[in-house]
Amino acid sequence: MSDDLHEPVLPGPGASDYERYLRTDELLALQKPDEERVHHDELLFQTVHQASELWLKLAGTEVDEAAAELERDQIAPALRLLRRATLCLQYVTAQLDMLNHMSPWEYHQIRVVLGHGSGFDSPGFRRVARVTQRVAKAFDGVLARAGLELSELYRRGREFEDLYQLAELLTEWDERIWVWRFRHYTIVARALGEETVGTQGTPIQVLGKLIAQRRIPRLWDVRSRLVELFEAERAAPPA
Ligand code: HEM
Repeated sequence: MSDDLHEPVLPGPGASDYERYLRTDELLALQKPDEERVHHDELLFQTVHQASELWLKLAGTEVDEAAAELERDQIAPALRLLRRATLCLQYVTAQLDMLNHMSPWEYHQIRVVLGHGSGFDSPGFRRVARVTQRVAKAFDGVLARAGLELSELYRRGREFEDLYQLAELLTEWDERIWVWRFRHYTIVARALGEETVGTQGTPIQVLGKLIAQRRIPRLWDVRSRLVELFEAERAAPPA
């Protein structure tokens, strides 16, 4: 083995171990080269989308693993994974800001080379939908094995600290999806207006309606239920 610490020792293409491990040659070849771009802003557009897919890949992997932990009743490791995953969604949402730096007129030039490409086919978001169903089911299983109703968990949160934190983190996960959707909608409205249709023919107004959807509705319903329970108890305090 070479004593020179600057010499690469890892296998594969790339001039240094940094480039070999991170596969930067391949990664940086995934964006259209200058001469193929129909507009300067294509790099911006591809970067935001590709970076989103990477963060969503990490988020999906962590939520899948969190679900597997919950299926084994391991709450604490699931909490760590879910915290990371929600941070991924924050990054994906934050980088949408970059898209407002494209003018609506210039975006049209990029749009013509997108074919029928649509965010509905985003592998990252599709996986988010799948893993959310899995982790929500795993959470139901944990509650059932603990013999707890969701509203009971919220009323007696201090007695079940880990489970309470889990419920709140799952709520945050769902909230982050909701916030992303809202922010994506405003980006779309600025680029295309609200009266038009997307590359797969979806009216922009349909995107607006999707904002109202919750992936784990029971985590939101329970809050309304708590209002009722609180009011009922106040009207007739337990003896
Ligand atoms: C200027 C930027 C963007 C525009 C104009 C835009 C436009 C649209 C439009 C029009 C739709 C409706 C479907 C269709 O195409 O017919 C859509 C859906 C979608 N887009 Fe975008 N988009 C943008 C950026 C992004 C980014 C950065 C992502 C991240 C991966 C993304 C992910 C999605 C997803 C997941 C949907 C499905 C709808 C949902 O689940 O709420 N989009 N987008």
